[in-house]
Amino acid sequence: MRDQAERLRQIILHNKTRDTKTNLDNTSQLINKSKVLSVTSGKGGVGKTNFAINLSISLSKLGYKVVVFDADIGLANIDVILGIIPKYTIADVLDGSKNILDIMTEGPNGIKIIAGGSGIKSLVNLDSQKLDILTRQLQQLDNYADYIIIDTGAGLSNTVLNFVNSSDEVILITTPEPTSLTDVYAMIKTLRTNGGHNKLSVVINKVENSDEADEVFNRLSRVSHKFLNTTIEKLGFVNDSKLVMQSVKNQDPFILLYPNSSISKKINSIALKISGNQDTEDDGGIGNFVKRFRSLFSKGDT
Ligand SMILES: Nc1ncnc2c1ncn2[C@@H]1O[C@H](COP(=O)(O)OP(=O)(O)O)[C@@H](O)[C@H]1O
Ligand SMILES: [Mg+2]
Repeated sequence: MRDQAERLRQIILHNKTRDTKTNLDNTSQLINKSKVLSVTSGKGGVGKTNFAINLSISLSKLGYKVVVFDADIGLANIDVILGIIPKYTIADVLDGSKNILDIMTEGPNGIKIIAGGSGIKSLVNLDSQKLDILTRQLQQLDNYADYIIIDTGAGLSNTVLNFVNSSDEVILITTPEPTSLTDVYAMIKTLRTNGGHNKLSVVINKVENSDEADEVFNRLSRVSHKFLNTTIEKLGFVNDSKLVMQSVKNQDPFILLYPNSSISKKINSIALKISGNQDTEDDGGIGNFVKRFRSLFSKGDT
C-alpha cells in the first residue's frame, strides 16, 4: 500500500507540472494525446457502467482529464447511475447542430460525460456524411482529454463494434458465472473476426477473492489462446460487494462514497496500472483511433 501511495503522489505531481506547462503555453500546442479505452462485455449486467464511472473518477483523481462516452442503449445508463440529466446527446452532434465540446455534461470529480441517448440508435447506420461529422468531432477530443472511456452495451451495433476495435485498449468485464464467461469468450471472437488487433484486457467483477479471479482469468486466457490464438491480459478484479448497490441507490459512485473500501482500492490499482502502461506505449492519440475506425468502416460497409 505504501508503494501505491508513493506512485499516486508521483503521478499527481507529474500531472500538475504538466498542467502548468500547458497553461503557460499560449500557442495551445498540447503534447498530450488521448488514449481511448472501451469497456465492454459479452453479457449485460456484469458491471460495465459502474466500472467505467469509478475508473474514470479514479483516473481523474490522478490528475488526468477524462471523458466518458455512454454508448450503451441499455437501461442502466451513466446518467441514471450518477443522477444527472444531460441537456444534449451525441444526436445533437450527428445532426450537425452542436460541437462535441458543447454537449459534455459535468460529472463528479471533473469527469465529463458524453451522453449517447437516442443518438446511439443513429450510430447503427452511419452514412458517410455522419461518419465524417463524427470523426471530425472526435478529433477535437485529442486536445481535451487524456482518457476517453467508452461504455458500451453488451450487444454491439456495427459502429460501436468498430469503436471498440479502434480503441487503444479494450477492457472486457466478466463475472465468474459460466454464462458471463462463455459470452465474453464469444465477444473476444467477434472482436477478432471483425478486424480488431488491439490490446484486450480483462477485469473479473463480482468475485469472492483473488484465487477465484485467477482461476477464472486463467481459464479464459487458455481458451482464447488455444482456439482464437489471442492473448488477453489480466487488468485486475473487483470483489462482489454490497457497497456497489448502495452507491447506485445513492447515485454517488462508490469510489467517492467509500474511498477506503477494498473495491475502491481495486479500482485505484487498475487506474494506476492503466496510467503506468501509458508511458511505455507509443500511442498516437485519437488520430489513430479515427484512422482505425474509418478503415474498419469502409471494410464493413462495402
Ligand atoms: N462488484 C460488484 N459487486 C456487487 N454488485 C455489483 C458489482 N458490480 C456491479 N454490480 C451490480 O450489478 C448490476 C449491473 O451493473 P452495471 O454496472 O449497470 O452493469 P452493465 O453496465 O454491465 O449492465 C448493478 O445492479 C450493480 O449494482
Ligand atoms: Mg451499462
